[in-house]
Amino acid sequence: MMTMNKTLIGLLLAGAAWMLAPALSYAQAAPAASAPAAAPASDRPGPNDYTSKGADTCLGCHDEEGASYSGSALFKTKHAQRGDKRAPFGPGGLQCEACHGPGAAHAAKGSKKKLTINSFKADSFMSVEQRNRACLTCHEGTSRTGWHASTHERAEVACTDCHKIHHPQGDAVLAKTRESEVCFTCHKQQRADFHKTSSHPVRQGKMACSDCHSPHGSTVQGMLAKPTLNQTCYTCHADKRGPVLWEHAPVAEDCSLCHTPHGSVRAAMLNKSPPLLCQQCHSSAGHPSVPRTGAALPANGGTGAIFVIAGSCTNCHTQVHGSNHPSGAKLMR
Ligand code: HEC
Ligand code: HEC
Ligand code: HEC
Ligand code: HEC
Ligand code: HEC
Ligand code: HEC
Ligand code: HEC
Ligand code: HEC
Ligand code: HEC
Ligand code: HEC
Repeated sequence: MMTMNKTLIGLLLAGAAWMLAPALSYAQAAPAASAPAAAPASDRPGPNDYTSKGADTCLGCHDEEGASYSGSALFKTKHAQRGDKRAPFGPGGLQCEACHGPGAAHAAKGSKKKLTINSFKADSFMSVEQRNRACLTCHEGTSRTGWHASTHERAEVACTDCHKIHHPQGDAVLAKTRESEVCFTCHKQQRADFHKTSSHPVRQGKMACSDCHSPHGSTVQGMLAKPTLNQTCYTCHADKRGPVLWEHAPVAEDCSLCHTPHGSVRAAMLNKSPPLLCQQCHSSAGHPSVPRTGAALPANGGTGAIFVIAGSCTNCHTQVHGSNHPSGAKLMR
């Protein structure tokens, strides 16, 4: 909360928040002198560009409209909080126009509706950057600090490609069980991966893309939520973190040397099946012989080939992630 307040105040002082600039003059009756020209004055709307009655004007024409817009849905969200000074409907707030921008011209009868107001739609006359700025005016802080470095920003994804502000069914992307539906609208390959026989239970609603990814961007490759890939995995698979007595080098290095993160047709989301998986790094030639006693005694007495023919290396080397057994050096117990 504090962070956001500070950010907001900072933005107001800097005058970077062109949309909020009039709010400042209304709320504090202060001259706009404290808002130096971050944008040319002509770009910044004046008080007369806004409707005089705010939401009441808009709601006169826009009541319940059905499929994608619902006035009452908006009033159930945090944006409609009347006690919150930072919120569009808080004291001195610009209400609908805090997001949609100045609407006097649009609200005038007989105006060319489509070209006068920020609809947040892809076919809008406004660029993605302009549409996002309406949101970032208030939301630059906290988890969006990575936004300007994100793949999503660079790919011109809009805030409102993911967020629905007054949809009758609410903002699906904020619900863990529905988030992936939203992501899958663009990420078809990942949708297919999560349908494979071995996959993380995202489709089942038990986890979400945002358990591993920062949707607003991060400095980590793949917009991962944690500083490294392995740390991302350890948040849930703490048992694989170690330290172990006998480490298996690739495990500590990078889980994705053996696993796909989303899903695979192979068991345990492996990216290849053993023995091929193991043979990417280990030569099967000259596999050391095994003791001539014991259950694992190979029929031919221990030449290399049998280990591959026997199928899975993991039949014997069960501790692929490392071993804590005093004699587990060969990852067999
Ligand atoms: C006099 C009636 C009237 C008033 C007042 C009015 N609107 Fe509209 N608005 C319309 C009509 C009609 C459309 C549909 C125009 C179209 O689709 O071409 C529309 C469309 C819109 C759209 C969608 C634009 C698009 O490109 O799809 C938005 C967003 C919108 N209005 C917001 C507002 C806001 C915010 C206010 C208050 C500042 C407001 N309207 C006031 C009549 C009104
Ligand atoms: C917090 C930002 C925000 C506020 C406040 C807000 N809207 Fe919107 N509005 C949006 C976004 C974003 C969309 C695009 C569709 C969506 O994401 O739900 C939208 C879409 C619309 C549409 C077009 C719906 C369509 O599909 O044609 C209308 C009309 C509209 N808003 C009217 C209003 C009115 C009236 C108010 C005030 C009562 C209001 N909005 C307040 C963000 C906002
Ligand atoms: C006038 C300032 C303002 C504008 C403009 C604004 N928001 Fe917000 N938004 C807020 C405040 C305040 C909250 C509540 C924060 C809290 O309580 O932690 C909020 C909350 C949210 C939340 C969280 C909702 C929840 O239920 O937890 C989302 C998502 C969001 N805004 C997205 C957007 C998007 C997308 C836009 C642009 C279409 C936008 N906001 C425009 C002020 C604003
Ligand atoms: C790729 C989809 C996506 C895009 C694009 C996106 N968001 Fe979000 N947003 C999410 C998801 C998922 C959550 C909930 C999980 C989380 O917080 O990481 C969220 C949460 C939020 C929240 C509430 C929680 C918080 O972090 O404070 C706000 C506010 C918000 N987003 C604002 C924005 C704004 C502003 C933009 C545009 C600059 C934006 N989002 C773009 C997916 C997205
Ligand atoms: C409107 C379309 C759209 C939506 C919705 C969307 N994305 Fe993306 N996403 C993209 C585009 C475009 C890229 C960049 C090109 C690519 O890698 O496919 C991208 C890239 C990514 C990347 C790769 C980042 C990198 O740096 O390699 C991740 C991770 C990602 N998105 C996660 C998500 C998640 C999680 C959601 C849902 C919360 C989501 N996306 C929703 C369009 C979208
Ligand atoms: C268990 C953690 C996890 C979950 C859950 C997850 N991802 Fe990923 N995702 C990763 C990792 C790890 C990478 C690889 C990052 C790298 O490039 O090093 C990745 C990469 C990506 C990429 C970049 C292209 C690619 O496939 O390498 C996209 C796009 C993506 N994820 C989207 C999604 C979407 C959409 C969801 C939810 C439906 C999702 N992810 C869920 C861990 C996860
Ligand atoms: C948010 C928690 C979470 C994160 C983060 C996470 N996982 Fe998982 N993982 C799970 C859950 C839940 C299961 C399913 C367990 C079950 O079904 O019993 C699972 C299962 C697995 C499986 C076994 C799949 C199977 O079919 O047997 C592997 C392998 C795996 N995860 C690897 C990873 C890797 C690699 C990462 C990092 C890229 C990662 N996980 C990150 C929660 C997580
Ligand atoms: C050298 C290859 C390799 C690496 C690297 C690797 N794994 Fe595995 N992992 C496997 C194999 C093989 C299996 C299947 C084991 C079996 O068949 O008994 C497996 C199974 C799993 C399982 C499901 C069974 C279990 O033990 O819980 C999880 C979860 C898992 N790995 C997580 C991880 C995580 C997290 C990392 C990174 C810290 C990682 N793995 C790194 C090879 C690897
Ligand atoms: C990405 C490369 C890589 C993959 C894949 C891989 N390993 Fe390893 N493995 C290594 C490295 C590196 C070492 C450490 C070698 C050393 O210390 O001399 C090692 C060590 C071992 C050891 C202990 C060797 C010793 O001398 O102590 C065994 C046993 C082993 N791996 C089995 C497997 C099995 C079984 C698989 C398949 C499930 C596998 N490895 C997959 C790279 C890999
Ligand atoms: C029938 C059981 C068995 C199978 C199957 C098996 N191994 Fe082994 N492996 C052993 C034994 C026993 C040792 C230890 C020999 C020793 O201590 O000198 C060993 C040692 C190793 C070592 C360490 C080499 C060294 O110089 O100490 C590696 C690496 C290894 N195995 C990899 C593999 C790979 C890769 C596969 C699959 C292609 C595989 N093993 C299949 C039993 C097996």
